[in-house]
Amino acid sequence: MSQGPRSGLAAVSSALLAMSRHLEVRDVLKTIVASARELLDARYAALGVPDDHGGFAQFVVDGVGEEQWKAIGPLPRQHGVLAAMLHDAKPERLADVREDPRFEGWPSAHPELVDFLGLPIRDGDEVIGALYLANKNRPEPADGCGFTEDDEELLAILAQHAAIALTNARLYERSRELTIAEERSRLAHELHDAVSQKLFSLRLTAQAAAALVDRDPSRAKGELQQVAALAAEAADELRAAVVELRPAALDEDGLAATLRTQVQVLDRAHSARVTFAAQGVRALPAAQEEALLRVAQEALHNALRHSGAERVDVTLERRGGAAVLRVTDDGDGFDPQTVRRAGRHLGLVSMRDRASGVGGRLTVESAPGKGTTIEMEVPGG
Ligand SMILES: Nc1ncnc2c1ncn2[C@@H]1O[C@H](COP(=O)(O)OP(=O)(O)OP(=O)(O)O)[C@@H](O)[C@H]1O
Ligand SMILES: [Mg+2]
Repeated sequence: MSQGPRSGLAAVSSALLAMSRHLEVRDVLKTIVASARELLDARYAALGVPDDHGGFAQFVVDGVGEEQWKAIGPLPRQHGVLAAMLHDAKPERLADVREDPRFEGWPSAHPELVDFLGLPIRDGDEVIGALYLANKNRPEPADGCGFTEDDEELLAILAQHAAIALTNARLYERSRELTIAEERSRLAHELHDAVSQKLFSLRLTAQAAAALVDRDPSRAKGELQQVAALAAEAADELRAAVVELRPAALDEDGLAATLRTQVQVLDRAHSARVTFAAQGVRALPAAQEEALLRVAQEALHNALRHSGAERVDVTLERRGGAAVLRVTDDGDGFDPQTVRRAGRHLGLVSMRDRASGVGGRLTVESAPGKGTTIEMEVPGG
């Protein structure tokens, strides 16, 4: 094979290109290993990424056929000469790896390695892998290690590329995990806000129907129709939550009208008096209207479910360039400090997230025996 700067450059450049094309990290590592073997004119090349259990998370090999690879058996462990680069973090150039005191043998199908060059792959101070080259192709059998200092320098360049590829892959993996976690919590909140409230009403209405069915069948029938309607709404909300649609009523009627209708429904359904008043609020960006609606729904739901209030008042008004939503009840109140973030209570957390998600602010004013006021303020309006 023709050696020299041109083919060396081509090998380095193909390794670089593989990385910039955002291939799978394994493909990048394969390219690097193949480039190393070609560049240093070796019979065998490998790259190992250690795991935390004394083995290798990845072990990419070039120069060994598939049949032979299978015959060799399981991946090597971090031991002997392979481990030296990982633990001492320095290069090794050996004339005959089998004569090295650290050599511990290999499986029967393993190729016979003689001269050997190993190099750590580093990210800062941390060793994140190692490159291994063996059996320099030489025209004549010769003594001494075939790999030269120049080879070592070349390999060091490839080791740096491998370090970048591995670090990028780790960062990518981490950011993907974060995105998944965020998405999961969004969906949990969405389901909580949209669906669990509906299911709760559904349960109450079904209970009412059951209580009425003997005494007053025609009213029971009405309640059952309500059950069907609520179930249909819950199904719609569920679908909407999953595809992140906003409540349809908002688009059609706007925030104030949507809130008014919902408050009227709740007023009829519960013994508490529920009122709504709006003043001077203009249409807001869709995301803000949606957040305000969801917060109002959860605050109303909490007030009706937990507080034993006789009155719940909802207001929406303009205050110094901001839109302000308030939900006030005259119920039992609670200590916001003692309601823990974790566990089953998602409502308050979700309201905070929704407010901050649209650049707004949520305040919870409550004390045992003093009722509760939830206020959300968003800029604009
Ligand atoms: N208006 C209120 N009046 C009295 N207590 C309230 C009120 N709002 C909330 N709480 C108390 O705060 C707790 C937490 O409310 P949060 O909405 O976070 O959870 P939750 O309603 O219990 O459950 P969910 O996750 O279904 O909303 C409630 O369990 C209740 O004890
Ligand atoms: Mg709640």
